Amino acid sequence: MKLRAGSLAGTQAVGRAVADVLRPGDVVLLTGDLGAGKTALAQSIAAGLGVTEPVVSPTFTIVREYEGRIPLVHVDVYRLDHPNDAPDLALDELLDEGRVVLVEWGERISASLPADRLEVVLEAGPSDDARDLTVDPLGGTWVPRRAGLEAALRAAPDVGELP
Ligand SMILES: Nc1ncnc2c1ncn2[C@@H]1O[C@H](COP(=O)(O)OP(=O)(O)O)[C@@H](O)[C@H]1O
Ligand SMILES: [Mg+2]
Repeated sequence: MKLRAGSLAGTQAVGRAVADVLRPGDVVLLTGDLGAGKTALAQSIAAGLGVTEPVVSPTFTIVREYEGRIPLVHVDVYRLDHPNDAPDLALDELLDEGRVVLVEWGERISASLPADRLEVVLEAGPSDDARDLTVDPLGGTWVPRRAGLEAALRAAPDVGELP
């Protein structure tokens, strides 16, 4: 589904709605240009998962872990030299261990990630603080959660559905 967040608060509401349906072992791919709001969305998903430690951009460390209601791994593969290096991140093991894995620039290592995943694409919107978000729950594990997630996203403050 396509959404327009009118403000940072709208994007944060999207993040909380996503967090509410996440389960251990889920992977979320965040795609969008620099400044699109991937880290902002990741921070709000983390908050929704009960992470209290500040979530910072993992750009220089690539992988950071946080304790929450579900343990969270925040990955930014912007500086990964080559998609072939993705297995070195051992994301499969982290997922098997029951963490949620959020990957900024996830499309770059898409082939190394499970086919079941939530994909979110962020793009600039019609004003400085607006963002268009495309949210795609993919795979069987998302089938029972899809309708609930979409209803929560439609009801999120400062978020509207786009055709
Ligand atoms: N609607 C919005 N959604 C997300 N970020 C927004 C929004 N409006 C303004 N911003 C600002 O845009 C910037 C997004 O930066 P960041 O989340 O680090 O992007 P990325 O991780 O995609 O490079 C932040 O400074 C944030 O406060
Ligand atoms: Mg970022």
